[in-house]
Amino acid sequence: MTPSLFGRMRLGYVLVESQRLDAWHRFAAEGLRLHVEPAGDGGLVLRVDDRARRIVVRPGPAEDVVAIGWQLDDAATLDLALQRLRGAGIDVERIGDADAAQRGIAAGWRCRGPKGTPIELFAQDQALLTDAPLAMRASGFLTGAGGLGHMAITTREPEAMERFWREAFDARVSDRIEDRLSGVTMDFTFLRLNERHHSVAIACTRGLRINPMRTSIHHLNLQVASFDDVVNGYRQCRALGYPIASAIGQHPNDKELSFYVQSPSDFEIELGWNPLVVDDAAERTWTPGAYRGISLWGHFPENQTLGLKAGQFARGLLSLTRREARAGGR
Ligand SMILES: [Fe+2]
Repeated sequence: MTPSLFGRMRLGYVLVESQRLDAWHRFAAEGLRLHVEPAGDGGLVLRVDDRARRIVVRPGPAEDVVAIGWQLDDAATLDLALQRLRGAGIDVERIGDADAAQRGIAAGWRCRGPKGTPIELFAQDQALLTDAPLAMRASGFLTGAGGLGHMAITTREPEAMERFWREAFDARVSDRIEDRLSGVTMDFTFLRLNERHHSVAIACTRGLRINPMRTSIHHLNLQVASFDDVVNGYRQCRALGYPIASAIGQHPNDKELSFYVQSPSDFEIELGWNPLVVDDAAERTWTPGAYRGISLWGHFPENQTLGLKAGQFARGLLSLTRREARAGGR
C-alpha cells in the first residue's frame, strides 16, 4: 500500500514580511494577545506555545505572508513529502541556515505551490523549542497534533489548488460550503491533513473567477484555549480600532466560534475556539458535508470602509487579466 501523509503533517510556522513592525507588535501583543519578543534582526517573534518561533514578522516591503511552514512527523515522512513534490515536477530547494534560523527551525525545504503559494516543509525534530515562559494576555492556544491553526486561500483556479493538496499531501475533503457574499456566489472547500477539521480552506468565486485579495492568503486561523479568549480578543481588537472583518460568529461545519480581524499587512487573522476534532472514530465514519452559508450565525462585517471595498473590487477585476502561477513556478 502506498504510504500516506495524512495525519502526519500540520501547520508549523508562518513568516510575514512587513515594514509596519511597531503596528504588528501592538496588534499581536494587545489585540491578538500573543507573546511577542524582538527577533534580533529588527523583526518580531510571536509565540503561543513551547516553539521558539511560531509567527515571525521580518522587516521588508512585501506586507504579506512570505512562507508557510508545514511540519512533518519525522525525517522519513519529510522525505516522502519531498518525493511527492519532485514526482509532480515541483522544484524543492533546501532552506539556507540563516533563513532556517529566522523561521525557528534547524533545517527545512521550500517550494512554490499553486498560485505561487510559498510552501515550506520541515521535520518535527528540527523545530527549535524554548522553555522560556510565555508572557501573553491570552490564557492559551491549542496546537499539538492539529498544528498551529489553518490557512484560507483565495484562488481563481480552485480545482488545481485542491488537486495539489490532495495529490501531494493526501489532504481529505472535510466539507464544502457555498454562500452568496456581496452579491457574488462563493464556493469554499475545507481540506483536512490531520485531526484539525481543516488545515487549508480554498475560496473562489463561482462563474467569473476573480480574486480580490492582494495577499497570498485570506486569513490565518489560531485556536485559543477558551471562550473568554475569543470574547476578550474581539473586545480588545475593537477597542484598539483594528478593522473587524467579521465579528464573532460560528461556522456551520467545524462549529468553531471565531472572529476575523485585519492585520497590519492586510490579510486577516481568525481567532477561534472549540472547532470540531476529527479523531480516529470520527475519521472512520466521516462523510464530507455540503452547507449553504459560511456562518451559522454572526460573522457580520464591522468597520469596513467603502475605500477598502472599492480597492478589493478593482483588484478583483485586475486579477482577470493574468493566469495564476502553477505549482513549482517561480
Ligand atoms: Fe478560517
